[in-house]
Amino acid sequence: MRELFARDPDRFNQLSVEAAGLFLDYSKNRLTGETIELLVALARERGLEQRRNAMFAGEKINSTEQRAVLHTALRAPRDLALRVDGQDVAGDVHAVLDRIGHFTEQVRSGQWRGFTGEAITDIVNIGIGGSFLGPKMACHALRSFAHPRLTMHFVSNVDGHDLDAVLQKVDPATTMFIVASKTFTTLETMMNAQSARAWFLSHGTPDGLPQHFVAVSTNTEAVKAFGIDPANMFPFWDWVGGRYSIWSAIGLPVALAIGFERFRQFLAGAQAMDQHFSTAPLERNMPVILGLVGIWNRNFLDCASLSIAPYHQDLNQFPGYLQQLEMESNGKRVSMDGAELRTLSCPAIWGDVGTNGQHAYFQLLHQGTDVIPVDFIAALAPAHLLPGHHAALLANCFAQSEAFMRGKTVEEVRAELQVQGMTEQQIKALLPHRVFPGNRPSNTILMEALTPATLGALIALYEHKVFVQGVLWGVNSFDQWGVELGKVLAKNIQLELEGKPSPKLHDSSTNGLIARARAAL
Ligand code: F6P
Repeated sequence: MRELFARDPDRFNQLSVEAAGLFLDYSKNRLTGETIELLVALARERGLEQRRNAMFAGEKINSTEQRAVLHTALRAPRDLALRVDGQDVAGDVHAVLDRIGHFTEQVRSGQWRGFTGEAITDIVNIGIGGSFLGPKMACHALRSFAHPRLTMHFVSNVDGHDLDAVLQKVDPATTMFIVASKTFTTLETMMNAQSARAWFLSHGTPDGLPQHFVAVSTNTEAVKAFGIDPANMFPFWDWVGGRYSIWSAIGLPVALAIGFERFRQFLAGAQAMDQHFSTAPLERNMPVILGLVGIWNRNFLDCASLSIAPYHQDLNQFPGYLQQLEMESNGKRVSMDGAELRTLSCPAIWGDVGTNGQHAYFQLLHQGTDVIPVDFIAALAPAHLLPGHHAALLANCFAQSEAFMRGKTVEEVRAELQVQGMTEQQIKALLPHRVFPGNRPSNTILMEALTPATLGALIALYEHKVFVQGVLWGVNSFDQWGVELGKVLAKNIQLELEGKPSPKLHDSSTNGLIARARAAL
């Protein structure tokens, strides 16, 4: 990469792209303009444009579940003319958005009252996976826009410590629970929702339930069976995948926190990225480029993971959000037609905010035996007024990508140690430890500031990146059969732990663990 930069002073301009309020610099990768041309040709050969158009048109591209994939319709304008199985998609989407607007206004203004007549102060979202990671990440990312009276809490884990910690903090008279589940059957969510309901009834009144429990789901019958009036249910549809659902009523906590107008800006930011993705030439198309660079690193340079490094404290949950988005979507080993893949698919996604990661695992990124590409993400303007901090933050962000790219050669290290007055023997011993191989790939994504609109565009960028990669690998990015096996086995084991009859067909390890737990319970 050092040579490529030296050879072409215009490399940064050539290998960067701007769209929907975001700027992507992909020049610090081990590729040239020709590599991109060839990767774009590969994308065309794999039918990327046709697949993309099929998704936007509502075709049932989620073939193993026979479903359309229409999260883009959730952020499309009211006049989008699209029917799926007879459903007026935009009509239904905007009817729910209007209800969300009305509801959030009532709660935020204090007109919505709890059973003692007080305004709501605490919102507890009970959900897991896509019904948790997106709302939690976005509420935190946009916390500088949040309503001062409302505190948001998120309970996801079946581990009772999660719910218990929240229940200890909140007052039943001023707390609203949102039970968020696409299916309304997910074990963790249902158990937490039942426990929250029991806690509420033991502190409040049964008549108060409608003021304190609302649901977000596609499953009206199950919501009714749980005891929530459908009037307090915000629906969405089977063509919204869980990990793509933040734009639907699953985003209710976000709308409550930042207000409905800003939630609309969040949708508009994503929509601007959709427009770009569906119209820009592939060579200048940000999600396409980000996806293809990822394919290059994964399939041509054998990089097994991708580290996400937001240089913004408020994006500290973004790596976790992307783990589900990327790994649940493209963590697949067979292609659409069921044949085993002949290429590697999704890398492992992980990361943490800069500068924290620098003092933890960046050592491995600089000098470890694996080459791990990094996506740096930063906002040019901060949301705080503390002097000096932001320049220090950005300086570190840019310095890290420079260091990954340049490294430090034997000659450079030797010259440095000589200046320090070391003997030749000392230099020889230290030299290999002080050399940085460099030539390590990274992308940098910049935005003016972290706002509802830029966050919307950023999430949509990664959604479409995942789509692009799914098409190139030939996998179905929209199912998740891999989570089923463990769920089924857990049901049997739970019966055994509770001493109930169950088919005991385990190996000695699983039997041993169950026995130890039974002895302790
Ligand atoms: O188990 C995986 C999964 O199905 C995710 O895809 C989904 O986001 C999560 O569970 C929660 O599902 P639900 O919203 O139906 O409770």
